[in-house]
Amino acid sequence: MRVLGIETSCDETGIAIYESGRGLLAHTIYSQTDIHAQWGGVVPELASRDHVRKAIPLMTEVLAEANLSGKDIDGVAYTKGPGLVGALLTGAMLGRTLGLVWGVPAIGVHHLEGHLLAPFLEPDPPTFPFVALLVSGGHTELVKVEGIGRYEIIGDTLDDAAGEAFDKTAKLLGLGYPGGAALAKLAERGNPERFHFPRPMVDRPGLDFSFSGLKTFALHTIEANEKDDKTRADIARAFEMAVVETLVIKCRRALKETGFSSLVIAGGVGANAALRHGLHEMCKKHEASLYFPRMEFCTDNGAMIAYVGCQRLMAGVSDDLSVEVYPRWALDKL
Ligand code: KG4
Ligand code: ZN
Repeated sequence: MRVLGIETSCDETGIAIYESGRGLLAHTIYSQTDIHAQWGGVVPELASRDHVRKAIPLMTEVLAEANLSGKDIDGVAYTKGPGLVGALLTGAMLGRTLGLVWGVPAIGVHHLEGHLLAPFLEPDPPTFPFVALLVSGGHTELVKVEGIGRYEIIGDTLDDAAGEAFDKTAKLLGLGYPGGAALAKLAERGNPERFHFPRPMVDRPGLDFSFSGLKTFALHTIEANEKDDKTRADIARAFEMAVVETLVIKCRRALKETGFSSLVIAGGVGANAALRHGLHEMCKKHEASLYFPRMEFCTDNGAMIAYVGCQRLMAGVSDDLSVEVYPRWALDKL
């Protein structure tokens, strides 16, 4: 089965074609970062309007790259939530309409299920069961995954998501939006010994996270010190080390509590090199297997939506003609 995937939940337009038995045939991602950067964050109305402008040209491009036309597509998958309501509606309307015009089933996909299963786009995919750490701009969750559609959230953030903490701290350091990757780059030059940030909630039992305190700690540290380049890099390094170590400790704990021996990392913060390194070390020490999607599939993309849509459609599931989106939608309410 050949499925066209459409991702428009936030500020990336992602389009892809996935075929069962063959894998990914073509994909493209267009990021709206430049549009939103000047406003210091995503402006929902601008996001929706830009998805409307970009989605069809990108789809035409992807079909051409795969040497296919609409009549070669057997199903359409689009992101149904969670995300920005207007942005979701643009993708859902397009997906639903294409399904109708091409006479094929269409299905709305959970964005986080896309992230969770993105490692299945790689040549060496994980096997069930596994623990997944979902770390993005909006979510920080530990999920017990026993199969497709069998998800239990075993850890969640009580306040900010990890990516949100990266972005807010980056803003305090004058790094613009979204600042996660820029902060990580600055941290590379930082002295790991100069500042020490707390590791939130690690001395309490359980798998929940809390990152808003780190942002406040960063604010106080910035206020109490010189604003030179070296100090900013040292603060970035200390902040990143605290987030990474906290995530690594909780992943280790989740593997221990579930008894599983595979860990999957997904979401934008999964692109962080220090996190990847920390998790590699931990998994090596505890003889667990670690899986990441390739860098471009850590952040939002259409390939993961096409993949999940393909699995669901092959299982005989599809949505009816009504176009529904869920801006808030818990992964375990699938
Ligand atoms: O999954 P994603 O693309 O979008 C959401 O669904 O949220 O994740 C975006 C988040 C942003 O907060 C961004 O700053 C963060 O991922 N991010 C990073 C890095 N690259 C992206 N955070 C830390 N280090 C990175 N290298
Ligand atoms: Zn995402």
